[in-house]
Amino acid sequence: MDILLNNKTNRMKNLRLFFAVIVLLFLQMETFAQADLRWYEKAIFYQIYPPSFKDFDGDGIGDIKGIIEKLDYVQSIGINAIWFTPMFSSPFKDGGYDVSDYYSIDKRYGTNDDMVQLIAKAHEKGLKLCLDLVIGHTSNENPWFVESSKGTNLRYSDYYIWTPFVPNEVKGKPTVRGNDIMGEDKYVPFKSARGNYYIKNFYDIQPALNFGFANPNPDHPWEQSIDAPGPQAVQREMKNVISFWMDKGIDGFRVDLASSIVKNDPGKKATIKVWQGLNLWFREKYPQGILIAEWFNPKQSSEAGFNIDFMRGGSLVSNRQGGEFQPTICYFARDGKGQLKDWYDQFIAQYDATKGKSYISLPTGNHDNPRLNAGDRNTTDQLKVTMTFFLTMPGIPVIYYGDEIGMKFLTGLYNKEGSQGDSSKNRAGSRTPMQWDSTKNAGFSTSGFWNLYLPVDKDPDRPNVAKEEQDSNSLLNYTRKLIQLRKSSKALSADGDWQLLSDVNKPYPMVYNRSAGGESFCIILNPTDKNLTVDIPTLKNNKASLVLGKAKGGYYKIGSPYDRINIGAVSALVFKME
Ligand code: NOJ
Ligand code: MG
Repeated sequence: MDILLNNKTNRMKNLRLFFAVIVLLFLQMETFAQADLRWYEKAIFYQIYPPSFKDFDGDGIGDIKGIIEKLDYVQSIGINAIWFTPMFSSPFKDGGYDVSDYYSIDKRYGTNDDMVQLIAKAHEKGLKLCLDLVIGHTSNENPWFVESSKGTNLRYSDYYIWTPFVPNEVKGKPTVRGNDIMGEDKYVPFKSARGNYYIKNFYDIQPALNFGFANPNPDHPWEQSIDAPGPQAVQREMKNVISFWMDKGIDGFRVDLASSIVKNDPGKKATIKVWQGLNLWFREKYPQGILIAEWFNPKQSSEAGFNIDFMRGGSLVSNRQGGEFQPTICYFARDGKGQLKDWYDQFIAQYDATKGKSYISLPTGNHDNPRLNAGDRNTTDQLKVTMTFFLTMPGIPVIYYGDEIGMKFLTGLYNKEGSQGDSSKNRAGSRTPMQWDSTKNAGFSTSGFWNLYLPVDKDPDRPNVAKEEQDSNSLLNYTRKLIQLRKSSKALSADGDWQLLSDVNKPYPMVYNRSAGGESFCIILNPTDKNLTVDIPTLKNNKASLVLGKAKGGYYKIGSPYDRINIGAVSALVFKME
């Protein structure tokens, strides 16, 4: 009897244990799933400009097979996500930001099958991939546009905006950047069955897609509301494009000119409303996906439902002057003439408004702006200081291909595929082929010089990956260390708190704190060619241990009421505070 009873209790116990294990497993699976849904919080992105990354087939233009070949390298930097500028079929009058077919990869990069293979290979390595969604306009060679020009009741008629004339109130007025009330320049003369003008978004060859107007003017019948059938059809089409690629396994999109879609909407209320709808739809259908806004206003894009938005480095890294980008008076320059205030005021306002809701991304560079290595900001030490900034700030870092080895922004290049257009400086200097090794064309391509997408930097001392792999002091290996450090600590992650400790009006050196859950780091940046000493209100720690950077005689002395810091010329120091 006893034995029987014992058996029964044992069985009960076993059963309870069994259920407990199941519940635990279930809970754990859910946390895993949750963690994966929020992968972007831990993302360290790499931006690839596909025609210049790696040419596999030897035609002088980078391609998907080339990218596949170099995934291990990308991963070796510590990167876990990549975004690509557009790879869809295009006449390339604006580097692919002029899409003629959203449902196919351009043949110069490969095929849709190649893309699916790239996704699979990247995922095997734990790398996420985002494509570029050019949502605000198409190429004028897109069949939608061609059909739209032909009549009013065709399938694509209302995908674009046609006008019979330029309204009087617009005549002679330019579109003011950031204001977004369209000026005369947005009306492109084009006689067709539909009218005499179409509205463009960027270049003339980029007719704007019709997402409607914020406040349609009844005297302008072409101004449709955001809920009208035309704009609604455009939204449906874009959802289709998104689904087409998400269903092939892509992890999300960087959304080109996301803030531009609704016309004459200076406060962005209507634009935000449209995006709230699109983001809600996206999140429900693809909870594991992300949309990154190119909006340059995280406060607005966060309200619109985006996870990430870019902010420009602006006066920190370059001021635009003259016919070319010039790193004239900016913060990260050895002459120490820059200031911090403008950047700080903009950043802190955006940071405070979005904290805990969405992330700011401060990219090292991109295909529209000069590289970190530009003008006389060109030594490894200078670039290390700048890189330290970008990889120790909160939010989502993006390294622009080649910045990790210090590739140079080349000046004096010709206009390549719209790199220099009516409203932009020459961007070709940031788009030159990746420098892999010291073989022909820096290992980018086996093609002849004249077939190269853009010329390779001719400097005999140009940096390359192979050389920097061998050098423990290289920018590449320093970047790897920075990423490792960032990944090792919650305080240095996207979410860790950020606080400027130095006086914003005495900009050199810049000192800031990153902290989370009792962990704390102090980062000191001195881009100038002078040794500097600064006092900051004490952090009340017992110990400051240097975890990255070369002290060169620099120190951190804990005191009261001030901590005193000394930092050598052109250097960056990261202290762990205990
Ligand atoms: C922003 C892109 O980054 C740029 O390269 C492009 O020319 C414009 N949008 C127009 O699509
Ligand atoms: Mg090729």
